Amino acid sequence: MSIQGLSADVVARIAAGEVVERPVSVAKELIENSLDAGAAKIVVEVRAGGVGLIRVVDDGVGIPADQIKAAFERHATSKISDYDDLERVTTLGFRGEALASIAAVADVAMVARTAEATGGEWVRVVNGRVEEEGPRGAPPGTSVTVRNLFRDVPARLKFLKSNAAEASRITSVVSHYALAFPSVGFALSIDGRRVFATQGSGDLRDALAQLYGLETAQAMLEVDHREGIGDVAVEVTGMTSPPGLTRANRSYITLFVNRRLVQSRPLTFAVIDAYEGLLMVGRYPIAVLDLSIDPSQTDVNVHPAKAEVRFRDEGLAFSALRHAVRGRLHDASVARPVADSFDAGTPGEAQAQGPTGAFGGAKRLLHSGWTETLETQMENETQSIAARAKTEDGREGITAFLEKRAPKFNGK
Ligand SMILES: Nc1ncnc2c1ncn2[C@@H]1O[C@H](COP(=O)(O)OP(=O)(O)O)[C@@H](O)[C@H]1O
Ligand SMILES: [Mg+2]
Repeated sequence: MSIQGLSADVVARIAAGEVVERPVSVAKELIENSLDAGAAKIVVEVRAGGVGLIRVVDDGVGIPADQIKAAFERHATSKISDYDDLERVTTLGFRGEALASIAAVADVAMVARTAEATGGEWVRVVNGRVEEEGPRGAPPGTSVTVRNLFRDVPARLKFLKSNAAEASRITSVVSHYALAFPSVGFALSIDGRRVFATQGSGDLRDALAQLYGLETAQAMLEVDHREGIGDVAVEVTGMTSPPGLTRANRSYITLFVNRRLVQSRPLTFAVIDAYEGLLMVGRYPIAVLDLSIDPSQTDVNVHPAKAEVRFRDEGLAFSALRHAVRGRLHDASVARPVADSFDAGTPGEAQAQGPTGAFGGAKRLLHSGWTETLETQMENETQSIAARAKTEDGREGITAFLEKRAPKFNGK
């Protein structure tokens, strides 16, 4: 076969494949757009595992009627305009690819209205082509409805898991964003059933209560830590669990960099490592932590789905997280402070000694001023919390908690 340029359709499909891997990718991109639009409330609706329908409605800034079609063009964005902007991007989106990619593999309807406009503008894009458009009554904000995802991409459809499994991935992403943005009210419903809703009170503890339950939320320790090396400042804020409150897997360690959800093994390990000597084997802490750092110290453009963040100095991020958590545990009198000699480059060393026996490690590291009675008290408390956590952990992951709770959404 001779070499020839691919048609625009094929190019669009190939590119879409990188951004939209499965239904959760759609939900994630739409939510990020709503957050970038300054929404105070984001309502997410999912049907048939997201393949049937994903709808995200927000009360953000909306889109002017004459720009709504441009939003679907590839590499069209209102968030950056030149290369330098990429260095200091503070929005979650910046690639201008999401809507174009989603529209290349699904039917997308969008209604948007700015605060100044008297009405909304509606557009329907099917497999990359504008099919219908026109004015439509709508409240200020944006509503995007994605239907029939991958209908014409059978290869992708084949690789999807059950509707329930795809939906639970969406639940996980929505809840993570609800934790990253406690001042935004999130509501999620799946197949007409309300899964959870956060009020958007601005208090992380409130959001945690909705997602993990009141008891867990109340027990969590607040983290607020700053440190700098040279002229780079890092701030770590959020919450982390006391050592007795643990889970059987690491999926309850939620980390953000500048409020962008990141999946990073080293950073997750930094949190676990901060509990060195305080956890039973096979138990992991619950944490929701945001690392805020000058965007120029990071590279967010390393992954098409923006799931990865690279640091100029990963050691700095690692040690800041570890110090933040360890320091907080120390303040709560459950751990000795971080050793000055800690070397961020070799986290394995400290861990290698490991805890000795169920609670031996915790005892070994107990704050020196503690009396025997307090020590026993803590051990008892730890065990009862651990026992409770065990029953809660019958099914793994955040969704197990969520499925049990369907609180009312305040407001809507
Ligand atoms: N929910 C929304 N509210 C307001 N504007 C939006 C929304 N979703 C998309 N847009 C507009 O459409 C543009 C393209 O969106 P997208 O394809 O996700 O690219 P990006 O987010 O990288 O800019 C955005 O830059 C923004 O101007
Ligand atoms: Mg976007």
